[in-house]
Amino acid sequence: MPCVLLLSRDELPDVVSLEAELFPDPWSLGQFQNGHDQGTCRIHGVRDHMTLVGYISCQVLPPEMEILNMAVLPGFRRRGMGRELVTAAMDHGSALGVVVCHLEVDETNIAALHLYTSLGFSRIGRRRGYYPHPEGARDAVLMRRDPRSVAASRGPMAFANV
Ligand SMILES: CC(C)(COP(=O)(O)OP(=O)(O)OC[C@H]1O[C@@H](n2cnc3c(N)ncnc32)[C@H](O)[C@@H]1OP(=O)(O)O)[C@@H](O)C(=O)NCCC(=O)NCCS
Repeated sequence: MPCVLLLSRDELPDVVSLEAELFPDPWSLGQFQNGHDQGTCRIHGVRDHMTLVGYISCQVLPPEMEILNMAVLPGFRRRGMGRELVTAAMDHGSALGVVVCHLEVDETNIAALHLYTSLGFSRIGRRRGYYPHPEGARDAVLMRRDPRSVAASRGPMAFANV
């Protein structure tokens, strides 16, 4: 399994390219750079050789954090990268004093719902019609998890990548 690392400002163009490849409304480079410069947007990524094949972007404002977006390139899915990315981001937040992690996910996104549920996230609510879609707006499922429980279950090495 390739290593998940906190990405630097110089690596943000790779994140923009990946996000533009996978999502219809990607963040711009300026948005990522602003978040990075303010110290609130943290992005972890995983590379296969030199290519960025997965990332997770988070807003970290201890004692809370929010998973903004994440993705793994289609050819690299179902190898555990998504789980490693979420765990690394949660470990990072936990080391900074985060005690609650929030996220919202499209109710039809079975892969992401399974991923988050398998990592102990609980459903805490729903936003009706949050995601526009040509066949009708979709609800967002709101989920929450205490990152300290994830770190505690992995032992002292959990903070190695902070
Ligand atoms: C969601 C996503 C990041 C998962 O990445 P991944 O690297 O394939 O995830 P993992 O291999 O770590 O899978 C972890 C668990 O998630 C669940 N899962 C992942 N893909 C799944 C799928 N297609 N169907 C059902 N469950 C799935 C499983 O429980 C899996 O555990 P298992 O392999 O032991 O059964 C990836 O599918 C993706 O990039 N999707 C498009 C972008 C997206 O939806 N982002 C989420 C925005 S909230």
